[in-house]
Amino acid sequence: MELQSLPDFADPETIGEPYAAFAYLRHHHPLFWSQHYKAWLLTRFDDVSAAQADARRYSSNRMRELVNAQVPPHQRAALEPFIDKASRWMYAQDGKAHEAGRKVLGKAFTPRAIEALADDIEQIVDDLLAQLGPQPELMTELFNKIPALILAHMFGIPAQEALKVRRWTDAIIVFMVGSTDPAFGPREALQAMEEMYEYFSRLVDERRQSPGADLVSQVIAAGEQAGMTQDDFVAQLAFILVAATTTSADQLGIILFYLLTHPQALAELKANPGLIPNAIEEALRICPAGQLSHRVVTEDVTLHGQTLHKGDLVYLVRAAANRDPRHFNDPDRFDIHRQQHDHLAFGRGPHFCMGTLLFKLEARIAFTRLLQRFPDVRLIDEQQPAWRTNSLQFRGLSHIHVALQPAGATITRCFSAAPWEKNGGYCRALRAGNLIVTSGTVAFDEQGNPYAPGDVYRQTRRCLEIIETALKQLGVDRTLVVATRMYTTDVAWWPQIAKAHQEFFSHCPPTTMLLGVNQLIAPAYLIEIEAQAWTGQ
Ligand code: HEM
Repeated sequence: MELQSLPDFADPETIGEPYAAFAYLRHHHPLFWSQHYKAWLLTRFDDVSAAQADARRYSSNRMRELVNAQVPPHQRAALEPFIDKASRWMYAQDGKAHEAGRKVLGKAFTPRAIEALADDIEQIVDDLLAQLGPQPELMTELFNKIPALILAHMFGIPAQEALKVRRWTDAIIVFMVGSTDPAFGPREALQAMEEMYEYFSRLVDERRQSPGADLVSQVIAAGEQAGMTQDDFVAQLAFILVAATTTSADQLGIILFYLLTHPQALAELKANPGLIPNAIEEALRICPAGQLSHRVVTEDVTLHGQTLHKGDLVYLVRAAANRDPRHFNDPDRFDIHRQQHDHLAFGRGPHFCMGTLLFKLEARIAFTRLLQRFPDVRLIDEQQPAWRTNSLQFRGLSHIHVALQPAGATITRCFSAAPWEKNGGYCRALRAGNLIVTSGTVAFDEQGNPYAPGDVYRQTRRCLEIIETALKQLGVDRTLVVATRMYTTDVAWWPQIAKAHQEFFSHCPPTTMLLGVNQLIAPAYLIEIEAQAWTGQ
């Protein structure tokens, strides 16, 4: 719905559905002063992208300004420890200090180091999927747990402690950008920060005494070499959790939301799991979990006829930029085939997200396994998903209930959707677990004319097309067919049948069966085809 006036960011509904507000600002006020956030909002792709890349004029050293924008002057002194700790996070640093932080974490996030986690991630995902009941709420039971457990594995800490960490990171990040929820106020954020630092200080002490192959030990070794202090290690380790847990969990929920509300896309992914990475990329563009970054202007900057003054806080609204029609064609459409991937979901420039590869790997594994195990996953009509309304910075679902049927227990019967089928032929498909069996035949062409006796090539092609339609209804495509069986009334037709078959299923030779079908039904039915597809590994 198009907005007709300035958005009200104090209204939880605006936060829950912010895209109309973003579109309005992008169009009418590309540089907008928000009294609510006490910050400028940039919403156009070119502006956001340029500011992200310009660390000289847009500083990341922002914690004091963020706290000042939320908290009245008489309460600020109490938050000094919060500002001090958060200002050591690499994402709140500029220049040399920032580069040093990136270098220390760099080793743990190389493509090779991330790819080496694939088997462990698969195990984590499979274990969680195995515990799901028939109607789970997936934020709690799956998506919040996946990143927390992966990080626990990387940090070498017990799984249940990783979930405690998630509560701390939520309290911190929701507070930072004008939370509308009293449960995420300054006191809660400060307490979470203190508890988190206490935890990590202890952990760093332990690993110093007995180092292992985990991320914490790696960061300590690299940090010591670079002359970092204990406070700096603790800050960088704590920040990984702040950066990685909520964002990843929310983005996984967002991806599922877009798939379940776009059934055509979901069917395509089931038929062709190779499309999953592209669908993940598109969900990151159309709805990034981290909707904005903040910066502080280091000198006066004039933009769109207005001046941002030195010291002003700016929100770079990446979620708005990712739907800027000046940059993306048809930007509000969820298009899993889109090839333009220069979205800003992970930022740009010197602070570009270090966890990009890790997130993409965990998302690919999560959705590949989820769809393999529960190909019939669907939303539940009476329990629709709901967006959180407490933070403009972090978009995510508060819950997403789904109905699941384990693939092994599913037997689905469907008929091809071919319009001429009712009077001219049939096709049915059955799925039991990972096996799909389809069979069909056809007597009339698309115009409703009977095939001439002997026109077996065209008839076979048509037959294969209706089989393919049925396969697609069950979320599979022809590349997954592992065996076919062709019944024909006369072996003289074989060369034509084989030619048509080869064009469709070059990877799997047919078995021919000669049957006296013409004695059972009309002789025009020259061929019947059965195909078996395997959707498991
Ligand atoms: C969907 C999930 C994620 C999203 C949307 C996301 C987004 C972002 C964005 C936008 C930034 C830049 C912030 C800025 O410019 O101010 C960032 C920075 C960062 N992210 Fe992520 N992130 C995600 C997951 C992760 C994960 C899984 C990790 C690590 C395990 C991670 C680690 C980091 C780090 C270390 C930085 C700071 C980089 C720097 O300041 O140089 N992120 N992330």
